[in-house]
Amino acid sequence: MQVIDNDVAPALLTSSTVSIAIAVLVMAGAAALALFYFVAAPQPLRGAGVLPSSHWLLGDTMLVNKVKNEGSSIFEWPEWQRSYGPRFLNLSLAGGARVLLVNDPEAAHRIFFDHGRFVAHEHWLNASAAHHEAIVTLEGPQWYHQRKVVARAFLPQNQRAFLRAADATLSEYLRGLLRGAAAGGVVDFDVVAFMSLYCNVAAAAMFSVDCLAVDSLLAGRKSELLVDADHVFAALERLVTIPKHMWPLLVDRATLARLRESSRRCHALAFDMLAARKGGVLPAATMAERARLAGDAKAYPFRQLPRAEGVADFLDVMIEAQREEETEAAAAAAAAAAGDGVAAPAAGASAPPGSSSSGSSTGALTDAQIAGNAISLIIASTETSAHTTSWLLWAVLRFARGASAPTSLEELSEAHLYGSLGEGGAAKGAAGVRGTLPGGAPWRTAAGAGEDAFPETPVWDRIRAEVAAVVGSTLDSPLRWEHLERLQYVEGCIRETLRLYNTVPFIGRQATEDCEVGGLHIPKGTVLAFNAPAMHTDEANYAHPFRFVPERWMAPRGSGNDAAAATSAGGLAAGATIASAAVIDADEPSVELEPGLSVPVSALRLKAAKGGFAAFGGGPKTCIGSKTAILQIKAAIVRFAQAFSHLRLAPGTPPVVPLATVTVRPRSSIKMQGKVA
Ligand code: HEM
Repeated sequence: MQVIDNDVAPALLTSSTVSIAIAVLVMAGAAALALFYFVAAPQPLRGAGVLPSSHWLLGDTMLVNKVKNEGSSIFEWPEWQRSYGPRFLNLSLAGGARVLLVNDPEAAHRIFFDHGRFVAHEHWLNASAAHHEAIVTLEGPQWYHQRKVVARAFLPQNQRAFLRAADATLSEYLRGLLRGAAAGGVVDFDVVAFMSLYCNVAAAAMFSVDCLAVDSLLAGRKSELLVDADHVFAALERLVTIPKHMWPLLVDRATLARLRESSRRCHALAFDMLAARKGGVLPAATMAERARLAGDAKAYPFRQLPRAEGVADFLDVMIEAQREEETEAAAAAAAAAAGDGVAAPAAGASAPPGSSSSGSSTGALTDAQIAGNAISLIIASTETSAHTTSWLLWAVLRFARGASAPTSLEELSEAHLYGSLGEGGAAKGAAGVRGTLPGGAPWRTAAGAGEDAFPETPVWDRIRAEVAAVVGSTLDSPLRWEHLERLQYVEGCIRETLRLYNTVPFIGRQATEDCEVGGLHIPKGTVLAFNAPAMHTDEANYAHPFRFVPERWMAPRGSGNDAAAATSAGGLAAGATIASAAVIDADEPSVELEPGLSVPVSALRLKAAKGGFAAFGGGPKTCIGSKTAILQIKAAIVRFAQAFSHLRLAPGTPPVVPLATVTVRPRSSIKMQGKVA
């Protein structure tokens, strides 16, 4: 028998107690995880596909993160649809969230428009509300009220003023870019600068404020406002797939701290813009709100731009709406008081319009709500419009003659990932340019023509022809409101870019009750994420989905819209990838994609109007700025087309990798060169 020494016994006892405690803890942990998996974690919905990669504990979180971090992701989501779930696909994320990927236009349409049953999902609302409160962060009566007011800023009479201001900023930028360059000379530009450009456009055109001098913009500097907008997007990227209660565990503190700081600075700017517009004085309650939301943050320096007499910008429109609502509330309260002679006026209702604007006592929009929506409009319009413009200019090159038009998803993604732009693309010398992608994958551009060659770009030729015919061929030609509708080919290019590069790729809704969609039982709380990249490249929705065919979106001749006729005069002869793409007069108009291949227009966009085009979302909560977005991108393309006769990638530019985050952006900037017209 073994004799245990008296001195050793307590030590043995202690170590075995520790071992037992550890074993118990491990078993309890395993039991908790098993419980979480079998009870808390949602099981896949019957009737929807399942990704084979689901992790037993983390679900598809790792896959989604891999897709987010390793690029080419915009091409992965359509693959999932093709391989695992043609109409619906289960996705489960860490923390027990049940997510259903919707690949089916009819189902998407139903979900968009049944706003009572499907609201913006809580992950999105929580993530964006961590920065500011505005229509984008709200649902229910609050959302409805604010959306109605903000929508007034988007009426045509206000958009005219927007166009003038946006065009002034865009033209100033282009003139700066061309400074000192002779016709035929080559000018470099970097599409990352478009973020600064559109941030300036948004601040100037909506709020008559200048945040960054154009020379700084041309020197590649960012405005402080844009730095903060970048923080917001970086944080959104992290937060939007993680339930709020998991943020402290899964989101690094630095991201959350930066978000808080940028929120304060943006609020400081918005409140100061408002104060400047309201004569410098804001009511005490508004100042208390400013202190709550902005703390002691200082607004960055901004210059108030001169405004023509009687021309309202978006801030004026919101202030005017606030005054009207206050006046109505005051009148209603007075009438109620006079009616029975007894009822006391509602709190604040007897105050003169404008003086109670810091509280919701009248039900009118508050100053804080105006500030929140101002921030929102700037942030929502900057990155989205900038990337869409970048992708459009990239598409001009990607679908150039010489670069074979991809006909399959594989070809499209392959070309993006590994260069191979063909003639005159990124190639430098006979051997092409080599490099390594972040993560180590090698890339090489195709060998092609030398640095001096500009590729043939029929899409650009046709854009230029339309711009020359409708607006004029020089930067001095005034761009008028009436021109916009006639720029049909340019608009087709914008929509086609949004279809293929879908700048805001993943949006969603959440079911407020158990219901049924497309034959599938959807439990309350399910997040429904629209797989727009898949819907936009599904042959069932768009014939020849991988071709860039702006004519998909153009009204046929004789439809009362003469734009197609006006534009066909100049540019059609350019031919090339989309060959002599012409809208042909016939009973059923068709487009000739290449010699011998004509396709009816109706087949080119089969389900665009039925949920199959989700670039701006859909239903009552659709993008409020969709028309404004098209307007400002059109204005930018007009000015670029007047400035540059030809475009190419700057030599040595690495392959363009579309990275799908909150927006789809190129992994590294696309450096371009333009030949001065
Ligand atoms: C190409 C540019 C743009 C794209 C692709 C885009 C896309 C989107 C998408 C997909 C949504 C979500 C819609 C939904 O859930 O159904 C959205 C919402 C929104 N967008 Fe845009 N957007 C663009 C430009 C703009 C511009 C220029 C503005 C403002 C001037 C703007 C303001 C907003 C606002 C305020 C919301 C929230 C609406 C609400 O929740 O009621 N966007 N946008």
